[in-house]
Amino acid sequence: MLNFVSMKLSVGILGATGLTGVELVRLLLRHPGVEIAWISSESQAGTAYAKVYPGVGARLSPSVATLIPMEQAQKTAPDAVFSCLPHAASADAIEPFLNNGKTKVIDLSADYRLAEVAVYNTTYAHAHPHPERIRDAVYGLTEVHRDAVAKTRLVANPGCYPTSILLPLIPLLRAGIVSPAGLIADSKSGVSGAGRKATEGTHFFFVNENFSAYKVANTHRHLPEIAEQLAGAADVDVAPVFTPHLVPMERGILSTIYADLLPGKTESDAFAAWEKFYAGSPFVRPVRDLPSTADVTRTNECRFAARAIAGTNKLLIVSVIDNMVKGASGQALQNMNVMFGLDETLGLV
Ligand SMILES: NC(=O)c1ccc[n+]([C@@H]2O[C@H](COP(=O)([O-])OP(=O)(O)OC[C@H]3O[C@@H](n4cnc5c(N)ncnc54)[C@H](OP(=O)(O)O)[C@@H]3O)[C@@H](O)[C@H]2O)c1
Repeated sequence: MLNFVSMKLSVGILGATGLTGVELVRLLLRHPGVEIAWISSESQAGTAYAKVYPGVGARLSPSVATLIPMEQAQKTAPDAVFSCLPHAASADAIEPFLNNGKTKVIDLSADYRLAEVAVYNTTYAHAHPHPERIRDAVYGLTEVHRDAVAKTRLVANPGCYPTSILLPLIPLLRAGIVSPAGLIADSKSGVSGAGRKATEGTHFFFVNENFSAYKVANTHRHLPEIAEQLAGAADVDVAPVFTPHLVPMERGILSTIYADLLPGKTESDAFAAWEKFYAGSPFVRPVRDLPSTADVTRTNECRFAARAIAGTNKLLIVSVIDNMVKGASGQALQNMNVMFGLDETLGLV
């Protein structure tokens, strides 16, 4: 593994005007081995980034400080491209880079997260634009699929809710500590999870001093991604219940997860399985005290703790991430580091 970088990697960001886009620019600016080659936008091409995000924009070098249109970006072949675009648009936008035979792509959208094209088509309500690519993509939950991430040119960066749920559950399923049946995850997210554009549901008037569930009864688009990855860990089909909630915060996710301990298994067994699985993974921290979202704000960490519930066979898990960092742009940068054989923590600590 390289701890220093002799030649800087050139990196482009599609959709740099969005929330994950600006988070990536902020992180990349402090990465010692990266040079931003361009930042793109469709609606604000030709605009100085400092006009969109004054704080971050002022730190860009003048040669890349203006947003360029996607068509211009697609004529280049940087070492890496991050796509911070919505699903469907993203799969189309990254095609030229995948076809140039060089550029490695980290797609923050959902386009390549699901292995089954039929599940994608139903979940996202349109036909996948490039189903032939799906088999090339690696699901970029870094700590779980690190070896495959290191070998691929196309990483599907995980969803924010799935990251907070999968990181604690996968080691417990693999080690036979909890049952794959009866898993329940109640997740609460800050409003940045919905992206930059305000909608009625994300308007300050609705969100402030309010707390609501949405997409209940397993109708959220992240459910198939969660179920597919849990099934991979358990080696059987898994049918979790997932209920997302919106809380009046800017950023952060807290997932409360309920699992059935298998006979003879305890809270200590869960902790031991986590410590073993995540030894050598600097961003995933099993902790004894219950974590809260502030513990991980603006970090690439996922922290979780467990409690066995007395009188039942239930294990309660509380897991927290910053949805903009470990749930999106931070994990994307972590994946880029792994794809290029760099120290996984570069730009992230
Ligand atoms: N927010 C999160 O917590 C989070 C977490 C994990 C993954 N993600 C995923 O990451 C991606 C970006 O999310 P975000 O929160 O950054 O969204 P966002 O704030 O809405 O930004 C998306 C950007 O994409 C561009 N865009 C929108 N529609 C487009 C289209 N049809 N064609 C080309 N460009 C288009 C827009 O830029 P211009 O108008 O300037 O062209 C916009 O600024 C999404 O796929 C999202 O699901 C988000």
